Amino acid sequence: VRALPTPDEIARLRQLDRDHLLHPNVVLGEFEEAGGTVIVGGEGATVRDIEGREYIDAIGALWLANVGYGRRELADVAAAQMRQLPFWSLFYGWGNEPAIRLAAELARIAPAGFRHAFFTSGGSEANETSIKFARLYHVRRGNPGKRIVIGLQRAYHGVSYGAMTATGLERVREGYAPLVGAFEHIPGAYCYRCPFGKTYPECQVDCADELERAIGRLGAENVAAFIAEPIQGVGGVITPPAGYYEKVRAICDRHDVLWIADEVICGFGRTGRLFGVEHWTVRPDLISCAKGITSGYMPLGASLVSDKVYAALRGDGHQPLNHGFTYSGHPVACAVALENIRILQREGLPARAAELGESLRAQILALGNPYIGEVRGKGLLVGVELVRDRGSREPADVAAAVELACRRDGVILRALGGNIISISPPLVITPAQITRVVATLDQAVRAVCGGLGREGQVTP
Ligand SMILES: Cc1ncc(COP(=O)(O)O)c(C=O)c1O
Repeated sequence: VRALPTPDEIARLRQLDRDHLLHPNVVLGEFEEAGGTVIVGGEGATVRDIEGREYIDAIGALWLANVGYGRRELADVAAAQMRQLPFWSLFYGWGNEPAIRLAAELARIAPAGFRHAFFTSGGSEANETSIKFARLYHVRRGNPGKRIVIGLQRAYHGVSYGAMTATGLERVREGYAPLVGAFEHIPGAYCYRCPFGKTYPECQVDCADELERAIGRLGAENVAAFIAEPIQGVGGVITPPAGYYEKVRAICDRHDVLWIADEVICGFGRTGRLFGVEHWTVRPDLISCAKGITSGYMPLGASLVSDKVYAALRGDGHQPLNHGFTYSGHPVACAVALENIRILQREGLPARAAELGESLRAQILALGNPYIGEVRGKGLLVGVELVRDRGSREPADVAAAVELACRRDGVILRALGGNIISISPPLVITPAQITRVVATLDQAVRAVCGGLGREGQVTP
């Protein structure tokens, strides 16, 4: 651990940050004024900033620090692999040992029938790959007209053009037209604010039938794939009920449409199972993953390919697979992922996430906080929806103020949209830390919402 820098050094670094570094998702003028918080270290579920302040990282950085901070064994594996071989590509049949071993390990732990992996550097590339493979699947099977990809409103799939067009959040796409063609969006299973005005279970999960209605409108001969996060993350931790994916699977099968599960957030234990789809009884055709695959220790993503899709890509064995990123199968990232998966399994972290997530949700509900309308999610992927009134469910658009108040009290949470707070800590978070997160959230919500003016503005 390095000594803390002096106030002068900190001020200089902050200035360099404001002068030269473009940060994702900031208002540039505001950032020039205020700058940001620089994180310099972490241990378990806590991180500390450059001034020595400690925080509970209740968001896993970006939904990904599954095994927590300070894992020396991951640093050792990376260093050893860099010394031995920093890079070799997988192009044209070349290989490297960590990529081969990781693909085999993923085949072992993924849902049955997923025996092939294609590696990328992150989640957007994983989705690009899954979408391209879905279209190629139909081309190779003699159905080149099947091109349209149907996604969900509020979905987040990344920022590259295909993944961004698949994304169902307007603000992510704003200013970047023209987008890629042949993408459509339908409402998802947002039960707390059902887009169809229905109530579960009487609705019989009618929202899933919207997929079939969309396929009907577009023509099944034109539809390649349906893409969805098992539980939507950025869109608000929107958690479909039992029966949703079972219906999706049957609809996809009826119309020869592939189902792509975007497990970028849900995968690798976050929801209490190794993969998010394991909460339902059916399995997709392609799985995009990233984030938790290395717990963020190295950038890595993957598209896991089912045997059904593999058979079509292979065709008669004479067609090329013309797709690949320079860093597909980067040996250092793959070596780190292998060790990360070993830790997840050795320490039983998916089961821990299930148990602690249950407790976290129960504790939040037990607060009886009048401004908390719903607590949802699975495992340690949790969403808290803030309302002005539980009866009317009128949104309390104060999530950003709550996030800020919690941060001042040493707990990092994330505001999603106007009125949703997400909690997705490292799976190694302790019960005592969870209790503190809950108490801090409660206090912040009461303080901020208690000061809500009539127009919904937070009064200072
Ligand atoms: C569900 C989901 N898919 C895809 C992505 C994009 O991944 P990346 O930012 O690694 O490109 C994200 C990122 O948050 C995500 O949450």
